[in-house]
Amino acid sequence: MSDVIGPPVGAPRPRRLDPARRAADLLLSAKERERAGCILEAIENYEAAISAAEVSGEHAVMAEALRRLAVVRHKRDEGDEARRLCDRSYDVARRTDNPVLAAEALNTLGVIHVREGSLPEAAAAFRRALEMGEASRELRARAEQNLGIIANIHGDLDGALSSYERSLDEYRRANDEHGCAIAYHNLGMVSADLARFEDADGYFTKSRAIAEKAGDVLLQGLCLLNHADVHAARQRFEEARRDAEASLAIFDQLGTRDHKSAAYRVIGIVYRETGRLALAESRLRSSIDLALQAGSVLNEAESTQELAVVYQSMGRNQEALQYLNRSHGLFKRLDAKRDLVDVGGKVLALEGTYLAVVREWGGSIESSDSYTHGHCSRVAENAVAVARALGLDELELTTIRLGAYLHDLGKVKVPHEILNKPGPLTRDEFEVIQMHPVWGIDLLEGIEFPWDIKPIIRWHHEKHDGTGYPDRLCGDEIPLAAQIVGIVDVYDALTTTRAYRPAMTHAAAMQEIGKMRRSWSEPVMVAFLEALGEQPAALNPDAAEVMERAQGRAQGRAA
Ligand SMILES: [Fe+2]
Repeated sequence: MSDVIGPPVGAPRPRRLDPARRAADLLLSAKERERAGCILEAIENYEAAISAAEVSGEHAVMAEALRRLAVVRHKRDEGDEARRLCDRSYDVARRTDNPVLAAEALNTLGVIHVREGSLPEAAAAFRRALEMGEASRELRARAEQNLGIIANIHGDLDGALSSYERSLDEYRRANDEHGCAIAYHNLGMVSADLARFEDADGYFTKSRAIAEKAGDVLLQGLCLLNHADVHAARQRFEEARRDAEASLAIFDQLGTRDHKSAAYRVIGIVYRETGRLALAESRLRSSIDLALQAGSVLNEAESTQELAVVYQSMGRNQEALQYLNRSHGLFKRLDAKRDLVDVGGKVLALEGTYLAVVREWGGSIESSDSYTHGHCSRVAENAVAVARALGLDELELTTIRLGAYLHDLGKVKVPHEILNKPGPLTRDEFEVIQMHPVWGIDLLEGIEFPWDIKPIIRWHHEKHDGTGYPDRLCGDEIPLAAQIVGIVDVYDALTTTRAYRPAMTHAAAMQEIGKMRRSWSEPVMVAFLEALGEQPAALNPDAAEVMERAQGRAQGRAA
């Protein structure tokens, strides 16, 4: 932030600008002051260059000074002024028939739009820059590169790949080797995201070779780091560790904490995937600390997600969920324009990890009850089908899927001999079983989910007529999601073999559910029949008549 404060008291005043100095000289010294980090002096020089060029009629200098001043103003969060300067630069270049400088102004305007999150305007500016700057390969290469970045933010990986390929082609024709190195690096990143690891391998190797020759240490480090990520994805753990450590040495030297955070993450992943869980935990914790120091929400979110998977591997499921919840909150805070990433894609990937962790935990509960193998997965699938039939939205579907996986979590506290007892349960034993919804909630104490899944766990055994447990809720007091999981849970229990009875056929189970119809609301029963592709006739005659009337009402409403 040193570039936005004034000179300290007692410091020599900046020298006065000579009005007779030529515009070109002023532009040159403005660039020098900017490179030296003396931003206020740079602004003064750019403004003087613009005034001098206006008088002398050096239009190219004026267009260039206006555009560069726009970049400086934008970095100082003066967006309106920056865009106005770009427009002026474009007008001057157009008036004097200098299409390349006009295209430069458009390219800069596009970058400003990206940073402000106006992606359609940015893409339009880059496309116009491409057309107008036909004569400059170097400019076209940069405009293509910028279009690739926009495609990447949209999650359009194929589009990004094509833009980066065109950018590489332009850099090659312009004989710009360093530009090629940047294009190879970007191609490596997008190829890795597309799981084209062989291609990514080649791109990172080429980019790094040029970076070494050109002495671009940061690019070398980034190539090593992202190549390490590719090695890890290909399970080449030794190569991954070696490259990540080498990148860490570079970032240490450069003092870039956000990149160091990413390098520690890759090392942590390697340790986790090779079974060294304590080391993995330690490296990922270092990664999170560095991300916090650097203020990098993206790195903090990614490393928190990876740490959650370490805890899951250690069987510390509660902590795994706590870290996944934290990571979810961080991903939601990401800013596509600042982090230049596909935020939606990141959140989706995290939800995939979340589902995998919860599914595995649900599955491990089943292993204590040998008769219910696959129960949670079937209940989750059928519950989502019922929820869809009720027209619930994506957020509710995710809530129901996760709640269904964990609905019987509390059963881990029920003694094995009660859970698997072949004969009828005594009253006391049944009372123990009835505690499992409450114990499930106890096990999740202190865990705040992004989705409202606890009501499903607590109330999936409640009944519409008030005869359920643990709280004897009635009618609409029972949340819809809990009723949905409740009905498919009963159906699954009836159609699978249990310690105390053989599996029923689908038809017999439907008859049985018909007898229990007062346990759920009519809309839930109707949606359940629809999800299973059944007609009310599948239920017993008495229930079927009620359901036919309910279905008629539902259709009447829909019409
Ligand atoms: Fe249950």
